[in-house]
Amino acid sequence: MSILFSPVSIRSVDFRNRLWVSPMCMYSAVDGVVQEWHHTHLAQFASGGAGLIVAEATAVVPEGRISPRDVGLWNDEQRDAWAPIVRAIHDRGAAAGIQLAHAGRKASTWWPWADDRGSVPESKGGWQTTAPSAIAFDGFAEPIALDGSGIDAVVDGFASASRRALDAGFDVLEIHGAHGYLLHQFLSPLSNLRDDEYGGTLENRARLLLRVIDAVRDTAGDGVPLFVRISATDHAEGGFTAEEAALVGHWATEHGADLIDVSSGGLVAHQQIDVFPGYQVPLAETVRQGGRIPVTAVGLITAAAQAEKVLADGAADAIFAGREWLRDPHFALRAAHELGAEIAWPPQYDRAHWR
Ligand SMILES: Cc1cc2nc3c(=O)[nH]c(=O)nc-3n(C[C@H](O)[C@H](O)[C@H](O)COP(=O)(O)O)c2cc1C
Repeated sequence: MSILFSPVSIRSVDFRNRLWVSPMCMYSAVDGVVQEWHHTHLAQFASGGAGLIVAEATAVVPEGRISPRDVGLWNDEQRDAWAPIVRAIHDRGAAAGIQLAHAGRKASTWWPWADDRGSVPESKGGWQTTAPSAIAFDGFAEPIALDGSGIDAVVDGFASASRRALDAGFDVLEIHGAHGYLLHQFLSPLSNLRDDEYGGTLENRARLLLRVIDAVRDTAGDGVPLFVRISATDHAEGGFTAEEAALVGHWATEHGADLIDVSSGGLVAHQQIDVFPGYQVPLAETVRQGGRIPVTAVGLITAAAQAEKVLADGAADAIFAGREWLRDPHFALRAAHELGAEIAWPPQYDRAHWR
């Protein structure tokens, strides 16, 4: 009996399995509005058997976009463009999630295949970035430090984007607290040098994340699963640690989060990451055991038996994969076959079903 292909329920949502699609930016939106690309891109994973598809980092305010081509949810046009995509995911039997994000000092950058690198200047459509402290990410423009009303506006942005996401039909909300973006910038002592109630102690550095969780849970009500992605280490001396991540994860669940999606890194350019298959699984296990909370594991989990073992070992409760889904959008159909798990195929594809 495969654990990977056993269903799981969180609050009011049933997931047909535990092999999920990790959020992946496509840098293909126009004025924050999703396009036909996003529709075909996301729907194919649902045909391919995913239990949950979490759509890419979606900016809650315009200045929170990583690049000018990011998706946003700060207006109703953006909300309405999501609705048919969510329907396509549901029609194919998967749950639909969205990752709500603010890039902070890593906003206003060129998309990966642009001719330029680093920050987009205001003359070319970029904008002034914001952060906990006026410290630039190496090679990017200097942000300005958020004041009290700027922080309140971030919280409000997450709340109203949550409302729009739910109105568009999404089942799951994920708050992006990882990869060196705004909420992670507050968590880490390397990027947060504030001397007010948002800086210094871990309680203070976690205050904005917990306020955002409160606001999103308040908006969403009791039925909606709420995930938080965190970087459980900065991979740099003096940075955020896995032990701190376990504690913050625990607080997050006390504030209404259901699961911590454990990733790592992205805060500083001088990070030293040792990358190997399943390299972030030990971090997931530390956060799960230390925080006594459900977690997902992600990062170079590319094979069915490997994913099954992570769950069987008790290191995580579900698996997110990213690039393997880009290589094979039907990853779950293949993985189920390899594990001998009998799952429902799209009837249109039934003549190709392994039996
Ligand atoms: C094209 C691409 C875009 C990504 N965009 C996001 C994103 O929007 N939000 C996020 O949290 N992680 C993002 N990531 C990281 C993935 O979600 C995932 O954590 C990472 O790729 C490691 O998993 P993998 O080895 O299975 O790909 C992105 C990765 C890729 C390859």
